[in-house]
Amino acid sequence: MKRKQSFFLRVPVLSCAALLLTAAVSVFRAFRMVWVFYDPNLRFLGGATGLFLLAVAVLGLLLVLLALRMWKPQNETIEKSRLCRVLGALGFVFALLFALAAAVMIYIAGHETGSVMLLWLKKDLPLILAFLAAAVLLVFLPGCKGRGKAALAVCMAVVLALGALWVVFPVMPYRIVSDPVVMDTGEDYAVVFATNTQGTGFVRYNFDGTDYTVYAQTNGRRIGDRLMHTVHVPYVHLKNNRYTVGSTRVIEEFSYGGRNGKTVTAGPYTLQVNESAEQTYLVISDWHSYLDDAKKAIFHLGDYDGVIMLGDPAAGMDFEEQAVRNIVQFGGALTGGEIPVLYVRGNHETRGAFADLLPSYLGYDKLYYTADRGPYSFLVLDSGEDKPDDHVEYGGMDDYKRNREQMVDWLKTVQVKNDKMIVLSHAWQVSEPEPALSRAAWDAFSKLGARFVISGHEHVCRFLPGDSAQEQEYAEAYPNITAYIDGGHKGKTYIASKLTLTPQGVRFEAVSNTGESVVDQTLPW
Ligand SMILES: [Fe+2]
Repeated sequence: MKRKQSFFLRVPVLSCAALLLTAAVSVFRAFRMVWVFYDPNLRFLGGATGLFLLAVAVLGLLLVLLALRMWKPQNETIEKSRLCRVLGALGFVFALLFALAAAVMIYIAGHETGSVMLLWLKKDLPLILAFLAAAVLLVFLPGCKGRGKAALAVCMAVVLALGALWVVFPVMPYRIVSDPVVMDTGEDYAVVFATNTQGTGFVRYNFDGTDYTVYAQTNGRRIGDRLMHTVHVPYVHLKNNRYTVGSTRVIEEFSYGGRNGKTVTAGPYTLQVNESAEQTYLVISDWHSYLDDAKKAIFHLGDYDGVIMLGDPAAGMDFEEQAVRNIVQFGGALTGGEIPVLYVRGNHETRGAFADLLPSYLGYDKLYYTADRGPYSFLVLDSGEDKPDDHVEYGGMDDYKRNREQMVDWLKTVQVKNDKMIVLSHAWQVSEPEPALSRAAWDAFSKLGARFVISGHEHVCRFLPGDSAQEQEYAEAYPNITAYIDGGHKGKTYIASKLTLTPQGVRFEAVSNTGESVVDQTLPW
């Protein structure tokens, strides 16, 4: 009598379990930016890395069982082996549980973390595909006979050939994917725009009868390895002037020669800079990649002459793509390349491998600076991270305390042109982990005659002081300074603000994405 085949050792069952576990392991690995939060709960396994290695080992076991079944289908030794049957069952259950855990991770991650996970998954995709190709060859090819074997070999060869061809001759059309964002760096304008793949960047305009083509370059060499293109233009050249942007695709750069693709352009745009006595500014903070909600709130605020980006556009800056989507494309949509932007770094742009490149990609040497607009001045600060540098979330990469100390030293000596002056800082404390340094910063504001501190970070919209002892202390110590927290994303709500600056004072308006007015108050200088 023929022995009944074990369910867990059937080829379709083993194949499904291996495929499911491959997908789940890929997702789990793509969430590695949050493994630091899992580690304390997975100590018994050696942390999330231990769990990942265990899952890879189980995947290897399933592939070995599958290979044994495929290579010798008639061999009953595996069927008879109690160990193989138990291992097959354990592998199947593990794959199911791990896939369930991966699904839960996706569900609780939501849009913000989930969108970063997809970027990590995209980065890992060649590795995953190579693994799958190797597994298919190892498991199925030896078991195939005749035409099946030839068909599988041809399929694999075609896939590999097409992959190689794609690398040498990219077929994706080259496009500009954002309107420009004109960053006011305090020294000049940085025109920032993005393309869908790497290339050079340039800005064309006519000033005083002379045509200019200015490139994104460093020390005389055009930059061609970025999605974001940053072109510095003097204030006087671009102010109230027309310009176009363009980019030439760079496929490969060599020591001798190079291979370029198509040149694309966009525009014209006209940069309109309002330097009159009445100016309006859209203020946005903490949009954390929830662009649609933010745009709905912004729509209710009507027109504005400039934009103040107060930081925290995304969960972090692991990839250039995150800055493209959440800063450049978003900023381009809000400004159409036609009004200037003041950029303030939030604490979430300090995280991830791209974080150290972000300032220069946005055109900034330093993220603390002053910018003048007619009779008003802005003092822009970089509050860095909100916890001490050695916090486990920062992966040993932070040196923000020193940065804040240097900034406060600079604050003590900085000259501000106009007496009507507004401080912009992501965190109102400026130096959240160091209370003494916060007081030193506010002492400097007081000496400089700052009237308002505009901040974000707390995802609420309100004036200070609230109930906290620290806020009460600051209200008493600095009665001439009013601090305002702009709003941002919270649950399904987004709140954006608008400031209207007049010689008499500042009107604060804040509106939610549902059109509800949250604040409407005017305060004198
Ligand atoms: Fe923040």
